[in-house]
Amino acid sequence: MTTSPHPRLEIRDLVRVYEGKTVVDHVSLSIDPGKVMCLLGPSGCGKSTTLRMIAGVDMQNSGEIYVDGNLVCDTVFRVPPERRSIGLMFQDFALFPHLTVGENVAFGLTSSTGAEKKARAKSLLERVGLAHFIDEYPHQLSGGEQQRVALARALAPRPSIMLMDEPFSGLDNRLRDGIRDETLDLLKEEGASVLLVTHEPEEAMRMADEIALMRGGRIVQRGAPYNIYNAPVDREAVSFFSDINVLRGKVQGALTDTPFGQFLAPGQPDGAEVEIVFRPQHVSIDFDRDGKGPNPTALAGTPARGIVERARFMGSESLVEFRMDHDGQVLKATVPNVFMPKPGMPLWLTVRRDRCFVFPVE
Ligand SMILES: Nc1ncnc2c1ncn2[C@@H]1O[C@H](COP(=O)(O)OP(=O)(O)O)[C@@H](O)[C@H]1O
Ligand SMILES: [Mg+2]
Repeated sequence: MTTSPHPRLEIRDLVRVYEGKTVVDHVSLSIDPGKVMCLLGPSGCGKSTTLRMIAGVDMQNSGEIYVDGNLVCDTVFRVPPERRSIGLMFQDFALFPHLTVGENVAFGLTSSTGAEKKARAKSLLERVGLAHFIDEYPHQLSGGEQQRVALARALAPRPSIMLMDEPFSGLDNRLRDGIRDETLDLLKEEGASVLLVTHEPEEAMRMADEIALMRGGRIVQRGAPYNIYNAPVDREAVSFFSDINVLRGKVQGALTDTPFGQFLAPGQPDGAEVEIVFRPQHVSIDFDRDGKGPNPTALAGTPARGIVERARFMGSESLVEFRMDHDGQVLKATVPNVFMPKPGMPLWLTVRRDRCFVFPVE
């Protein structure tokens, strides 16, 4: 295998304007050979439009696309879609109903002989555990099986890049995790670089080597799943992955006071307003002993008291909402399901200080 100094796919400053509205706004990305990048963001943020430009089925207003360091598309030069070595897989990418499963998989293999096509189709179908369906028709397969055939079809021509747009969203939940893992294994084996579009954070975290978080046409953060989750750039980047709690404070001497103790607000001027953002799973609860809670610690800070407003059973855990004594604000905590406190019960809350994020209020 030769190692190229270039990323497998690189896009620079892609812009797409529809009817005066910039829906993709200077998006730049690069994916190294064999890596999976997830483009993650809410519905309507421009993910599919970005993918369509890379596939060559839509044209950018400005910006360039490179494969292995070679320009495939700018605003004057354009390699046609079928010559970009790109495989596509979309949620509604239907199989051809009048072709057998084997013929579906072999469909894109234009430059091989009949025997070669059949062998490649067979080996991919074996790989996804569906070789016994090779002469059947798509309607005889379940949704999950059709999905695996579609994956085999997309990979058959050995694309160096796979573009996948919400490919699992048509599948029911119980099937999805298994098919995601299987798909990932196969993509890694085939060595394709993958750009996977999704609006589901769990899917991105499960699949991605790297996540590009997109909002309003822009990439707001890029990084490994661990970093995106644990070092988010702003409040919205936290809330995209989970429920959040927010405390407000004013800065004095690069610190801000809260009912949970002081937090560092480095670089923030005196008088600036900041938000302290944390997830319900980083809140711990403790019993009230004659109006007193646990002692403050360096990691958990100062406890603050609240009254249970409601508790909801969520399966592996419960979500408890508290009305806080200090200002009547509602805060949420997730606790193991064995503990379901009754409304009206006073409890003390502490937050994992190393899991709190301090952001300036815009
Ligand atoms: N062909 C089009 N004409 C006009 N507006 C479009 C077209 N395609 C997409 N849009 C708009 O561009 C924005 C981004 O769409 P899209 O890329 O599909 O978002 P996502 O895939 O992130 O949900 C949306 O506001 C959508 O309405
Ligand atoms: Mg889309």
